[in-house]
Amino acid sequence: MVEAAPAPTRGKGSAARPVLRLVDVQAEEAARMPTGVSELDRVLGGGLVPASLVLVGGEPGVGKSTLLLMALAAMSKEHRALLVTGEESAAQVKLRAARLGGAERVEILAETDLDTICATLEEAPPAVCVIDSVQTLYSSEIGSAPGSVSQVREASARLLRVAKEAGVALFLVGHVTKDGAVAGPRVLEHLVDCVLQFEGDRYHAHRVLRAAKNRFGSTNELGVFEMTGAGLVGVPDPSELFGAAREEEIGSAVACTLEGTRPLLLEIQALVAPTDLAMPRRVGTGVDPKRLAMIVAVLSRHGGIALAQADIFVNVAGGVRIDEPGADVAVALAIASAARGVPVPAGMAAFGEIGLTGRLRPAAQAERRLEECAKLGLGWVVVPAATKGRKGVEARAVETVKQAVSATLGARPEPGC
Ligand SMILES: Nc1ncnc2c1ncn2[C@@H]1O[C@H](COP(=O)(O)OP(=O)(O)OP(=O)(O)O)[C@@H](O)[C@H]1O
Ligand SMILES: [Mg+2]
Repeated sequence: MVEAAPAPTRGKGSAARPVLRLVDVQAEEAARMPTGVSELDRVLGGGLVPASLVLVGGEPGVGKSTLLLMALAAMSKEHRALLVTGEESAAQVKLRAARLGGAERVEILAETDLDTICATLEEAPPAVCVIDSVQTLYSSEIGSAPGSVSQVREASARLLRVAKEAGVALFLVGHVTKDGAVAGPRVLEHLVDCVLQFEGDRYHAHRVLRAAKNRFGSTNELGVFEMTGAGLVGVPDPSELFGAAREEEIGSAVACTLEGTRPLLLEIQALVAPTDLAMPRRVGTGVDPKRLAMIVAVLSRHGGIALAQADIFVNVAGGVRIDEPGADVAVALAIASAARGVPVPAGMAAFGEIGLTGRLRPAAQAERRLEECAKLGLGWVVVPAATKGRKGVEARAVETVKQAVSATLGARPEPGC
């Protein structure tokens, strides 16, 4: 791709400026604005920071416009809220607004010319503005087509200046494909204050919002939504949805993971099928492939489960992705259950990280995880040794992955897989 030539830098005559000590800098933390969408507030770190620039990335059709229109609708009750749409016509947005309801006071500007948008924002700055999407913006100073890297970068840099100078909290919508390569948002991640990723399977109703970068808060928080005809509905208790106690099933185990400050019960499903392939398949949806390969290797080597001649498929319920090693044991148990044809007993969960030696490492914040299990009525939990139990849950402490397997499935010999 041909990049535009950099703007000429200033001449040698620039004067030096006095520097300050940090102690002399005047700073007060601005009050955050609640967005009216509690799951979005949680991921932002407790509301939207005024004059900040937030990039919301996601695959086409995941629900970015819906989420942000809902936030604008809620915020328009107290603040001036503007939607700049370059992708859809004002009439299309109106139809969506009518479906979602409550967006009567949201102002709209159907425009893709960057100069016009910046001038509009500077003349009468709203408190919050959504630009949908950054890929449609076009500056005539840059020769390349809208959506090219130089256009996207120029647009973001200009909007950043406007956000900071005019005090507008700006949401930029950016399209990303699975590998994040096309369309540019990756090039502007360092420019913006927050990068939120909206993920989910278009074919499932659940969507997960997470922060990939946040200058004002933790990046571990997770927001869960369900897509309905009336818009996105926050799921305040996702454990109930993804990991609720169910019938005993072969190849299924419940993981108690921790996403940020929030414990989350997730059902992990595994299928182990005999294969003649020289390189058996290990396919994970929602699990890191390297982590999966490691868990399979440890299970075969230290867990007493023969998996060399088997294809293994692992799936995390609800289209959620697991980043945390605390889910290792549950993944291992789901695979062991599938390989042996023995179900994991109902009402049981597990957490703990698996080391390469087959020994379990303690997981962070065990107390909160157990609390979540107790809340959801899971009676016993396989945990790494030295984890204390709590009222309402029996913590079954095990030292190795082999012990975890026999504590759940019994020490039966496996039928030749
Ligand atoms: N009438 C409806 N009832 C239920 N769900 C709907 C309805 N209309 C749209 N949706 C859902 O909204 C999703 C599209 O949402 P939205 O337009 O906000 O996504 P987006 O990420 O902005 O997409 P784009 O990349 O096209 O801008 C659809 O995938 C669909 O699941
Ligand atoms: Mg959209």
